[in-house]
Amino acid sequence: MDKQSFRQMGYEIIDWIADYMESGYDGPVNPPVKPGAMRAQLPKSAPEQPESPAQIMADFKSMILPNTLHWNDPRFYGYFPCNHSGPAILGDLLGNGLGVNAMSWATCPSATELEIQVMQWLGKAIGLEWPGVIQDTASTGVFCALLAARESVANGNRDGFYDSAPLVAYTSDQAHSSLLKAMRMAGLGDRYMRLVPTLEDQSMDTDVLVRMIDEDIEAGHRPFFICGTIGTTSTTAVDPILEISEIADEYDIWFHVDAALAGTAALLPEMEWLMEGVEQADSFLFNPHKWMFTSFDCCAFFIKDPAALKHALSIQPEYLKTAADGAVENFRDWSIQLGRRFRALKLWFVLRLYGLEGIREKIRLHLAMTQDFARWVEDQPGLHLFGTPRIQTVCFHLGENESTKALMERINATGEAFMTHTVVQGQYLIRVSFGQAHGSWETLDRLKATIQGCLDAG
Ligand SMILES: Cc1ncc(COP(=O)(O)O)c(C=O)c1O
Repeated sequence: MDKQSFRQMGYEIIDWIADYMESGYDGPVNPPVKPGAMRAQLPKSAPEQPESPAQIMADFKSMILPNTLHWNDPRFYGYFPCNHSGPAILGDLLGNGLGVNAMSWATCPSATELEIQVMQWLGKAIGLEWPGVIQDTASTGVFCALLAARESVANGNRDGFYDSAPLVAYTSDQAHSSLLKAMRMAGLGDRYMRLVPTLEDQSMDTDVLVRMIDEDIEAGHRPFFICGTIGTTSTTAVDPILEISEIADEYDIWFHVDAALAGTAALLPEMEWLMEGVEQADSFLFNPHKWMFTSFDCCAFFIKDPAALKHALSIQPEYLKTAADGAVENFRDWSIQLGRRFRALKLWFVLRLYGLEGIREKIRLHLAMTQDFARWVEDQPGLHLFGTPRIQTVCFHLGENESTKALMERINATGEAFMTHTVVQGQYLIRVSFGQAHGSWETLDRLKATIQGCLDAG
């Protein structure tokens, strides 16, 4: 591709993204496509000769767009948001433009230094003074925390786990599955993952936690890791972090806090309560790629004592040694993978182009929309609000599971709103998750009208 074509296609793409961000997609937010249908339209082999930018863009519009679930369209209310923004896209573009591998300080000093600093800004903004690093996802973050905890109590890196006491981890039955996956990847096994039951509000029952720990000690096991959640995936429940931190302290167990979605809300002084007790934990993470307008992927991972993490993950083959080692941070020692993207750029752009106040303003809007929508649900005959939404997700149902599921399917089939479900206490729940970068009171009105239409038709 010559420079002129690069410029021309690049400008066209930026124009397209700007329009997409402004107006969303002009077709259904969740395309009604069949598995394999799009692939069938693609050639069987890669082209031997270069193709024209115009043809590729035409195919993008005719083939890719109608087969995409539009996560950044304001009509998307599924899962948790994965919102983007102009600043993040531009920061990422520059990162791609530089094309560096930020595995060590010496391989790109600016990437390491910027990452240290923006993570410090971010930590300070949510009231946390620990050093941080950008991981790709929360799943990687919890895996890193688990490995740091494991190596703090055992020498698995050296000896493996052939004849040591089983290491046991604890989290609530509402926690994200990424911890169970981390236990598997760490070679510790499902058998030693305890899912602590939850109370009526889906927060961890700490009496049972203590009982489980005592039983494991009695059985000759080694409790080594507790994961608390601020904002569970199903209903955004909040575990009693302060209480859990005291238990972790008493039993000398690593305490990790997963605030993948909710951490962004801690930027608001009125939401400071979310962080109560976190300072007493050992590690904490949240995903700016969920709700903080920092395009996927970007997980802000903080750790009280980075030495434990480096002890677990550092490996020093000759070919990676540099003259600066010892005097600098090499983030390859804080991460699973060796090669690293220059992710700090997009976070830097977001923090500077919005400013913390700009981000807070948007989060406040999402929180207000959530409360307004929850009240609307309560006012609809036949709809039942599940719990009290404290963050940005509203769960509701029609009473009976089959009819609730049918309602969600009807709503999604309109292409005018997309939402996903969960099951809690045997109840099938429709989840409406706010946080769209381009959401507004007007898009909320459209959501209500779509649901109302489906209720009337049902
Ligand atoms: C509470 C919680 N933790 C962890 C994760 C995993 O996130 P990631 O996709 O970044 O691994 C999610 C995903 O939604 C989540 O809700």
